[in-house]
Amino acid sequence: MKKIVSQINILSVDIGGSHIKATILNSKGELLQEYQKVATPSPATPENVIAAIQTLVEQFPKYDHISVGFPGYVKNGVVKTAANLGTKYWADYDLNKNLALALGKPAKVVNDADMAGLGVVEGKGLELVITLGTGFGSALLLDGILMPHLEMAHHPITKNATYDQYIGDKALDKLGDKKWNRRLKKVLSILKTVFNYDTLYIGGGNARKINFKLDKNIKIITNQDGIKGGARLWVKQVDVQAVALPSAKKTSKK
Ligand code: BGC
Repeated sequence: MKKIVSQINILSVDIGGSHIKATILNSKGELLQEYQKVATPSPATPENVIAAIQTLVEQFPKYDHISVGFPGYVKNGVVKTAANLGTKYWADYDLNKNLALALGKPAKVVNDADMAGLGVVEGKGLELVITLGTGFGSALLLDGILMPHLEMAHHPITKNATYDQYIGDKALDKLGDKKWNRRLKKVLSILKTVFNYDTLYIGGGNARKINFKLDKNIKIITNQDGIKGGARLWVKQVDVQAVALPSAKKTSKK
């Protein structure tokens, strides 16, 4: 018998520049176990990354579907770019298909910030999600509906640097917390003016380095929150919308 969506368990994987994290979710996005992680292999070729995921999930409880957040531009499950893992290894690699074959379950692969966005937004108005890690992740959602493929990471912010280079891990290591925070303030002020978002969420490992007071409509999210988006990928977009919108009361006009 075919399982209905509410009964499925989902293996949710977040592939990052430094670590690969994974957990099992129920279809509501609740974690059924703590997430586990391994270092991202080097070189981070598709074969090495898939092998690392296989090892990481070996002891996991049973799951029905797989969701993956990938750090690059992904279209229909096929990777187009992977700035921090190596686009030369990944361009046009069908990660959906190959992961499904390797783990024997249907898989859905999307951009990592898009997956985190689906996991954290409230579904109210324009919500922007950014992640501060190896690279600069970005996702935009309107009333809970994702506008995919926003790659702020590669937009130039100065003459010589993209957002990835300006505010990513390497910049933090080189500049130290104080100067990096100054840069982040500048980034946040640009995002506020450009997007006019209702809420901004900030995730990624380096969000914990923020040392200044944030506006009231800015929220810090954790990796745990982000990985929950894996459940949303298996709920139809109409269902996402239904969850996101207030229930409409029928009014009878006479
Ligand atoms: C990639 C994005 C990704 C971000 C965070 C950037 O380098 O281009 O797609 O979301 O890193 O991992």
